Amino acid sequence: MAKRKRMKKGIKTIFVLIILICLITGGLLIYNNYFKSDTEPVSSEIEKLMQEANISKDKYSKTLEFVLLNNIYDESYLDEYSDIEFQDRDDFATILTTFLPLGYSSKEINYITKLSENNIDKLSKIDYVDISNYYEFSNFDVNKIDRYNSYYEDNDYSYKDVITYVNINLDLPVYTDTTEVADPNDLLVLVNKYHYLPDGYKPSDLAYLPGAYGNNVPMREVIVEPFKELQAAAKEEIGVNFMPTTAFRDYNFQRTLYNNYVASDGVTAADTYSARPGYSEHQTGLSIDLKNTAISGSTRLTDENYEWLSNNAYRFGFIIRFPEDKTNITGYQFENWHIRYVGLDAAKIIYEEDLTLEEYIDLYVTEY
Ligand code: DAL
Ligand code: ZN
Repeated sequence: MAKRKRMKKGIKTIFVLIILICLITGGLLIYNNYFKSDTEPVSSEIEKLMQEANISKDKYSKTLEFVLLNNIYDESYLDEYSDIEFQDRDDFATILTTFLPLGYSSKEINYITKLSENNIDKLSKIDYVDISNYYEFSNFDVNKIDRYNSYYEDNDYSYKDVITYVNINLDLPVYTDTTEVADPNDLLVLVNKYHYLPDGYKPSDLAYLPGAYGNNVPMREVIVEPFKELQAAAKEEIGVNFMPTTAFRDYNFQRTLYNNYVASDGVTAADTYSARPGYSEHQTGLSIDLKNTAISGSTRLTDENYEWLSNNAYRFGFIIRFPEDKTNITGYQFENWHIRYVGLDAAKIIYEEDLTLEEYIDLYVTEY
């Protein structure tokens, strides 16, 4: 009996001991993870390095440890190190040794670590610039910072909009510093007053659809099916026949059109509604001008027709290319009849976020 009692007592003690060990280990783990400040040196090696460099213990930070271990410690930046968030990345040492000497503060270095690799590289090659108003935007381009600053001063836009508008070139005069588009066959090709098509460009996959005036309308083959679906949906949902008047227009066609407008209205007016030859997206074969065939005369669509078109074109991969409230961005007056194929994904985002193609390309396609 007594033996059994002693055994029971022994088991009890072991049990209590195990619980105690568990509690102590758990407590230590929690303490280490959550409460132990990282302002104290963690290893004797670092402690030694700090002593050698005459750094007081309270200056410890992960970044300080990093510079000491990597032999890039510079005492003139001692105070900065403690405020620079340590980053476990290959270029962290380069960031510190490049931007501290250029005069960036710890706070600014924390901004810099959030930039793209490309922007960090560009920033490393120029003198100090204040990026605090811009660094958080993914379409910020370091090389345009002077233009952003001037555009911000001259206009009443947010920094976010300033970046996008300058990237789109709205701070530059139209038809001056223009660029040839890289791939005219790309479904997302951007053609506007800053981007022109290669000389004599003509899509190689033109197909023809019946037009509003009994004509045959050429357009790129890839947009034929999506357009037919749009036509069928309009017919079914609002009983309207949207027919193309023109879609693809070659360089010479556009030149004749534009010159005629200039002759009757003058250059300034013509430029608000007609593209100069080489600068019309009609030349890509991805745009279609529509007309409701039930309306006689020059009116193309009723407001109700447009209401449907503007809210449904995206379902088939098309966008309203020149919306009423975006004339400052597109450079053209409102055209309720001009649709442009961009594909389903882009069209959906452009519709849902109320963007122009210019903004979409800048925000979603261009890499900065
Ligand atoms: N009407 C459009 C802007 C063009 O001429 O391409
Ligand atoms: Zn058009």
